[in-house]
Amino acid sequence: MRALTWHGKHDVRMDTVPDPEIMNPRDAIIEVSSTAICGSDLHLFDGVIPGMVPGDILGHEFMGRVVEVGSASTLKKGQRVVVPFVISCGKCFFCERQLFAACDNSNPAEKQDLSEPLYGHAMSGLFGYSHLTGGYPGGQAEFVRVPFSDVGPIVVPDGLDDDQVLFLSDILPTGWMAAKNAEIEPGDTVAVWGCGPVGLFAIQSAFLQGAGKVIAIDEYPGRLALAKGLGADVIDFTQTRVREALMEMSGGMGPDAVIDAVGMESHGWAPDAIMDNLKQKIGIGADSAHALRQAIICVRKGGRVSIPGVYGGYLDKFPLGAVMEKGLQIRTGQTNVHKYLGELLHRIGEGEIDTTFLISHRLPLEDAVRGYQNFRYNQNEWTKVVLKPGTEVRA
Ligand SMILES: NC(=O)c1ccc[n+]([C@@H]2O[C@H](COP(=O)([O-])OP(=O)(O)OC[C@H]3O[C@@H](n4cnc5c(N)ncnc54)[C@H](O)[C@@H]3O)[C@@H](O)[C@H]2O)c1
Ligand SMILES: [Zn+2]
Ligand SMILES: [Zn+2]
Repeated sequence: MRALTWHGKHDVRMDTVPDPEIMNPRDAIIEVSSTAICGSDLHLFDGVIPGMVPGDILGHEFMGRVVEVGSASTLKKGQRVVVPFVISCGKCFFCERQLFAACDNSNPAEKQDLSEPLYGHAMSGLFGYSHLTGGYPGGQAEFVRVPFSDVGPIVVPDGLDDDQVLFLSDILPTGWMAAKNAEIEPGDTVAVWGCGPVGLFAIQSAFLQGAGKVIAIDEYPGRLALAKGLGADVIDFTQTRVREALMEMSGGMGPDAVIDAVGMESHGWAPDAIMDNLKQKIGIGADSAHALRQAIICVRKGGRVSIPGVYGGYLDKFPLGAVMEKGLQIRTGQTNVHKYLGELLHRIGEGEIDTTFLISHRLPLEDAVRGYQNFRYNQNEWTKVVLKPGTEVRA
């Protein structure tokens, strides 16, 4: 089959690779109909997440038809499913508590040593996201093996097209959980750093969860315009002093809750950002966290800090003093996708949530390399790329 594979920093390629096979009774094989490129994939593209091996198949946002099932799968051939990017067994201590992204059974034993020394505990399995998370082949491919297929995939009705449901795999529940973690109370002012797909869904979710005002921060006019379209007030951080603007827009108090939807590759020219970026470039520090530091400094006393953005290493210059002295709460984590699927699918079906407004480009899977390059280097215009296996590349 054809698949998008990683070969090093800024080097991804379309390759012909072996088709996946059923390995365990709970597996299913999915023929991918749509798959997307995520901001998390850019961290792999940029080489800032360790544990990648040349030839790894990327992709963790995908959906398609079931074409093969193991003897213990509850899926049926022909069903149309969306697959969570987090791989969860459904039965361990963590899955039973709906902490699906902390599943203890999905990262194979021989891979657990990679993340345990780093974090104290092994990470759970994720599709297409380095050997730290199990080294599972991802879904930017024609076919993909889905372990624990009796737990993860959600069957979607044919009445909803791919663009409406594809993002249930990751960024929609991620934006939703980001807002949940911000513990929004009716009328709250919520500030969101980053107007990529995760930030945009966090803005939409914050309003649905009762925010009175949402303030979105980014530098790209195209992305800020999408945030404005959702009803957010916007700040271009290259033109405006963010803290001063936020204070003014929140009655001099600071936002009640802040959401960092930027993660470990924050841009900017503040001294801490320059230091972080330099260290990241020479490989002696994984996280560039200017946006997170700024969010912590800006949030009001007693406020909530929600971090959907991905971080990987040992951050320095962390403003713990502000966290302590202002009495802040911080919540973060890979998304417990499975927990939110039912409710979000229902809201999509009812027309309460539109997932299609942020798709800027639909490309054939064969054009995936162009998709990565533009999603990385033309972020203003390329907000979200959906790849379609089996469609022709136009000359
Ligand atoms: N927690 C999870 O399970 C989960 C799931 C999906 C994605 N993520 C993470 O969420 C983050 C965002 O994902 P995305 O797909 O939206 O990525 P993206 O790269 O498309 O968007 C990031 C946005 O942040 C903006 N930005 C950069 N520096 C900034 C700053 N200093 N202030 C304000 N904005 C700034 C960029 O201009 C860009 O628009 C990534 O770190 C991604 O890995 C986490
Ligand atoms: Zn993702
Ligand atoms: Zn589990």
